Amino acid sequence: MIRKYIVLFLFIAGCAPVKESIEPSSLSECIDPVVNVISRKVSQTVREMSGDSISYPRSISIAGKWRTVPIEDWTSGFFPGILWNMSELTGDTSLRSSAIRWTEGLTPNQYNVCTHDVGFMMNSSFGKGYQYTGNDSYKKILLQTARTLSKRYVPIIGCIKSWDNRVWPYPVIIDNMMNLELLFWASKNGGTQQMYDIAYSHAEKTMKNHFRSDWSTYHVLSYDTSDGHVIWKGTVQGFSDSSCWARGQAWAIYGFTMSYRYTNDERFLATAQHAADYFINHLPADMIPYWDFQAPNIPNEPRDVSAAAIAASGLLELSGFVKDDSLRTKYYSAAVSVLEALIHKPYFSEGSSESGILQYGVGNKPAGREVETSLIYGDYYFIEALMRFKNTRSIFEGIHTNTVSATTNRK
Ligand code: GLY
Repeated sequence: MIRKYIVLFLFIAGCAPVKESIEPSSLSECIDPVVNVISRKVSQTVREMSGDSISYPRSISIAGKWRTVPIEDWTSGFFPGILWNMSELTGDTSLRSSAIRWTEGLTPNQYNVCTHDVGFMMNSSFGKGYQYTGNDSYKKILLQTARTLSKRYVPIIGCIKSWDNRVWPYPVIIDNMMNLELLFWASKNGGTQQMYDIAYSHAEKTMKNHFRSDWSTYHVLSYDTSDGHVIWKGTVQGFSDSSCWARGQAWAIYGFTMSYRYTNDERFLATAQHAADYFINHLPADMIPYWDFQAPNIPNEPRDVSAAAIAASGLLELSGFVKDDSLRTKYYSAAVSVLEALIHKPYFSEGSSESGILQYGVGNKPAGREVETSLIYGDYYFIEALMRFKNTRSIFEGIHTNTVSATTNRK
């Protein structure tokens, strides 16, 4: 009897958000209570966003409330994506009705030629909706969006143009890798070979041009429009042109892993691994990256939970592709350790009255925007990573017993 109470106490203590260090198995043990907290937070956001006109949450403001954005913002698809995923995770049908409402509000984006981010917006909303419902009208909208995104491709450069109206004639950012998923998916679901070729070319060029010799990434490249050569390499959201912005590195891990999933090109898998190795080797002891790996005042610099969540989700997929057992263990264990940090304080918002799920994200530090706050995309990739963990843990059962190799080279 006494033993039963000790076990119960240990279980509750293991899931308590104030606990500083947890056993390797505790993500498995805590995942259901964590999902329950997330579910309550998501329902709270639905209530806060409900009204006659539809609003899209992006980040928590200083007042503790969601700052909302119009449907053209790059983040507009993440809240509908969260609703689809949480409805799938919990079976809550009211979340599914909300997912439909927030997804269908984005319909005009299928013709938005002004940004590469239609990939983010539509893949995480209509893409998830199509995955879970098979609704044919969602498929048609996704295919139209892929046609729209293809218009941003210029053959002499071999990439999709990321931003309009900036100082550079043809900027391409590492984040753009994520928008290729829409094109790869479309090419295999009623779209064209050209969509595949565009995404493939963009990934190849990014592999060639966006990495330094140590496999850290540049955020922004500027291409010459007359012959396609690279004019400039640097950053907007990172600390400096020669530093490595953590979320950019996370986009690279995820983007090249996803590109391998669609192409089977071993070079993309190797690139994802190199990007992952850099990320893991530069993590601090608690596994949550500083917003830039070379930020000048580490350890007195903000962490970025969004980079952590994106990387965790990418690493879980990557671990399923690598053939070598020790590398598979390395990527899987690193992902689990990152998630174990994210489900505890100060990062997990359990106990806070705010409806954001992860605290301490960094949107754009150089611009002083959205620093140390909840970001809707951090929450989206956190939930996706938890789902990937739930779906793969049986495959990896028993693997996550070694010390994570990420413990080497930590600050
Ligand atoms: N453009 C996406 C990001 O800020 O990561």
